[in-house]
Amino acid sequence: MSNVACLLEVDDLGSAGLTQVLRTACDSSPLKVLQDSGVALLFQKPSSRTRHSMEMAVMQLGGHPVSVIGAEVGIDERESAEDVARNLACYHAAIGVRVFDHTVVERMAAVSPVPVVNMLSDQAHPLQALADLLTIQQAFGQIAGCRIAYVGDPNNVSRSLAIAAVLAGGEFVVASPSDYCFNTNDLQRIAQSGAVPVVMEDPFEAVQGAQVVYTDVWVSMGQETDAVQKLAAFSNYMVTPELMAEAAPEAIFMHCLPARPGSEVNDEVLYGPQSRIWQQAENRMHTARGALSYLLKTP
Ligand code: CP
Ligand code: NVA
Repeated sequence: MSNVACLLEVDDLGSAGLTQVLRTACDSSPLKVLQDSGVALLFQKPSSRTRHSMEMAVMQLGGHPVSVIGAEVGIDERESAEDVARNLACYHAAIGVRVFDHTVVERMAAVSPVPVVNMLSDQAHPLQALADLLTIQQAFGQIAGCRIAYVGDPNNVSRSLAIAAVLAGGEFVVASPSDYCFNTNDLQRIAQSGAVPVVMEDPFEAVQGAQVVYTDVWVSMGQETDAVQKLAAFSNYMVTPELMAEAAPEAIFMHCLPARPGSEVNDEVLYGPQSRIWQQAENRMHTARGALSYLLKTP
């Protein structure tokens, strides 16, 4: 690994860094740490929130974002992931990358002379977790002591959320069918951060007393071959008003988006009064700014 600060998973920040990112995210006149610099944003799969929030965050820090779709750069096709990183570092102060395979981000970070940010891999979505923590903090004043119940597919978003939640002093519970629970590797990776998620099958048990009920799509990008089997296995895991009624009275509903209304959540909850989905989406920009500021100021 090169010795520049990178953000491949949320615990790369440590708890002090996490606190600093959340604080900086709320700064209305941030230091222009990217003045006259570029940031390369590479996408091997589609994006709306990540591209727009990162581009705007770069602009707000005085920099210039250059977004590129995967095929144009051809990671490991036109040239190796390592050479893509080395090349982009000739022009840019940081590199953001959205990939199918997490090891590609690791390989880029290993050789890059500038910070590499994981903008979503099959393993992790640290930028989303940062926005989610800010949203929870805005709702309850603090994350410590909050019970965060994730109902659905244990995936990239939930791995990062588990790590982030526990790093910030919250409690993380996940409910999923037994055939789709976190595997041993996932649990070991999450445990490296000191986070020990509570894993169960019953969504109603998971949300008992929870301040946050969170879900994500049952079929993530790049995992479509599993779709039919998964949709059947998860049919009892839709977040509905009945499920929300078992959570704490002040509970909020969260989703990273894009959502599939009628699958993992119904319209009534997704667009209802407890939902914080648009605040989460906006917070993506604020926390992206906080994360970039942190990485670019850290030696
Ligand atoms: N939540 C999120 O990362 O959205 P996009 O896939 O649209 O970037
Ligand atoms: N788990 C989803 C998140 C999208 C932001 C996916 O990987 O497709």
